[in-house]
Amino acid sequence: MEKIKVNLYKNSYFIYLNYSLEKIGTKIRNENIGNKVVVLSDENIYPVYGKVVKESVERIGKKVNVIIIRPGEKEKNFKTVINIIKDLVNLNINRDDLILNLGGGVISDIGGFVASIYMRGIKYVNVPTTLLAQVDASIGGKTGINMEKGKNLVGSFYQPYFVYIDFNTLLSLPYHEIKQGISEIIKYGVIKNKKIFEKVEDTDPKQIKNDYEFLIGESIKIKVSVVEKDEKEEKGLREILNFGHTLGHGIEISDVRKFSHGDAVFLGMIGESYISYKIGIGEKEIYKRIKDLGEKFKLLNSFDKIDFDKIIEFLKHDKKVKKGRLRFVLPERIGKVRIGVEVDENEVLKILKEMKNNGKN
Ligand SMILES: NC(=O)c1ccc[n+]([C@@H]2O[C@H](COP(=O)([O-])OP(=O)(O)OC[C@H]3O[C@@H](n4cnc5c(N)ncnc54)[C@H](O)[C@@H]3O)[C@@H](O)[C@H]2O)c1
Ligand SMILES: [Zn+2]
Repeated sequence: MEKIKVNLYKNSYFIYLNYSLEKIGTKIRNENIGNKVVVLSDENIYPVYGKVVKESVERIGKKVNVIIIRPGEKEKNFKTVINIIKDLVNLNINRDDLILNLGGGVISDIGGFVASIYMRGIKYVNVPTTLLAQVDASIGGKTGINMEKGKNLVGSFYQPYFVYIDFNTLLSLPYHEIKQGISEIIKYGVIKNKKIFEKVEDTDPKQIKNDYEFLIGESIKIKVSVVEKDEKEEKGLREILNFGHTLGHGIEISDVRKFSHGDAVFLGMIGESYISYKIGIGEKEIYKRIKDLGEKFKLLNSFDKIDFDKIIEFLKHDKKVKKGRLRFVLPERIGKVRIGVEVDENEVLKILKEMKNNGKN
């Protein structure tokens, strides 16, 4: 068990790492928050973990209400927000009460957003149940929903009261979802901490749960240090977290049904490390080591079906290409990256096509 502090002046909070879900009630009592508690969860998660959480909070004498939504990214919209708010009104929830987000990034993004606007802001806590949410989405106070025209177009910066992580919740998570989180963990290793990367290289994918404490804890510390320096993304300091995400974003939006975020980002990391090698910033070995991890964890690591001309077109529409140049975070070595490297779009295309052809030989 470990307590990680997020220092944000009056918005500071703790992340409780490797704590048991059964004790969540005690934590709420110790923090002295929430007259009533509303658990927000989805249809996959609540049947597995809802009872434990509800009973734990009831044991400290608080009334618990439950709001359950359908699972999935497509639910992350205004309609869901309005339905949740109607439920909160019907349940007489007010600013003395607490929203408890029990679920993945979809739940913490929606629940955090609702908490930020309901009655001009009520307290919420995150209890993330996916690897991606534990290392990324539940931390940092970015909340939001999607519009038809794009992801996360509406949202707010609104920090949770605390984040409470029980690794055991990951035991029920399908492997496809686990690897979405592994992709982000690899990113943290490349940008800031080679020990994370080496641990991912050493670990047996079937036994990865034995390394959760180290991998999740160290990943969170990197995210926290970046958030602390630039809480509201005003100083450009969060850019370091974008390694793999420039290209990854293009791949993801080129076909959102085909590419999950983590898979797309993983391909992005391979492509961007190859660009780094070709323009003389990093060694080729970085590219090879990242690619090998893809093999091991069954992340997408082949560019066979990817049309880079199309990807660049998507990035242009998304205004990610400015004056014919793309902006990257590129690795100098594992654990250290260079931020804000601009490369001409034609050069990017040439390098990526070369990489794709080499991969076939
Ligand atoms: N706010 C941020 O800073 C931030 C950062 C990264 C991602 N995000 C957002 O997070 C979302 C993705 O999060 P996610 O990958 O957690 O997706 P998710 O919340 O959709 O969860 C993935 C799937 O796993 C299921 N699930 C969750 N926990 C489970 C468990 N313990 N056992 C079995 N099934 C479980 C869910 O029901 C869902 O079907 C995206 O909307 C993304 O935009 C936000
Ligand atoms: Zn990401």
